[in-house]
Amino acid sequence: MPPRKPTGWKPRTLPHATPSASNGKVSLRPADRAIGVFDSGIGGLTVLRALVEELPNEDFIYLGDTARLPYGTKTDEVIIRYSRENTEFLLAKGIKMLVVACNTSSAVALEAIARDTTIPVIGVIEPGARAVVKASRTGKIGVIATEATVASGAYTRTIQSLRPRAEIYTRACPLLVPLVEEGWTDNDVAERTVSYYLESLKQSGIDALLLGCTHYPLLIAMFERVLGPEVKVVDSATATAAAVRERLRALKLARRATQGTRSFFVTESPERFVRVGRRFFGPQVESAVRIER
Ligand code: DGL
Repeated sequence: MPPRKPTGWKPRTLPHATPSASNGKVSLRPADRAIGVFDSGIGGLTVLRALVEELPNEDFIYLGDTARLPYGTKTDEVIIRYSRENTEFLLAKGIKMLVVACNTSSAVALEAIARDTTIPVIGVIEPGARAVVKASRTGKIGVIATEATVASGAYTRTIQSLRPRAEIYTRACPLLVPLVEEGWTDNDVAERTVSYYLESLKQSGIDALLLGCTHYPLLIAMFERVLGPEVKVVDSATATAAAVRERLRALKLARRATQGTRSFFVTESPERFVRVGRRFFGPQVESAVRIER
């Protein structure tokens, strides 16, 4: 059964003239519009960081649904509803493209989101799957993610469609999100937790591991240490940024200006977002605006 639409919800398409994110003036040129990015909270800043590195000229508007995270333990119906509400907020800003930075939303809600708009929508699943398939020599691939992402089977399906004989081993790692937000990425607790979660994947003889959650790139050194040099560790964020660049170019939507802007919106606790977000993105997270839900 299709998910019920939230009350008052209406599908939106790209408006013909909207205030540009950078200067507040009306711009008719689609290429000058911002790219919208949303996540359940702070973790999507790893994706934004990769996007900004790849596309420094673009304006980005980031929404973190900090009031309602984590998404990774919620049901599909709730994840879809929240994801559509985030999309609606960003569409109202007149964005030219939407990047769903949250792996859980990408795994569960991408089709529903794409039905709500005519602008291009890019999630992290397909780019991540392509990158790990490329990195794996033997086809024995590990994927770690939230419980909802693993349960959706989205990474498994996509990897299998690209490499039908791949052996895919998945593992939900729910404790890693709070660990990373606490800044515990290089201590005993992190090492023991990562070792525990990766044990079965190691036993399976994987030669590539996909980090299928926004927070995990901050633990990349730990994953590499625990798995050893034979296993390549691949993150969805970098692969997604490359996919966004390609799509902008193909659609002639790339912006030519010299320096892009970034604005941050959250649904709760902008101070915490700024404090913790700096570990994910750097000192450029100076402030965030709280929006009502
Ligand atoms: N952003 C989520 C993801 O990438 C992780 C945090 C959460 O569970 O909300 O799946």
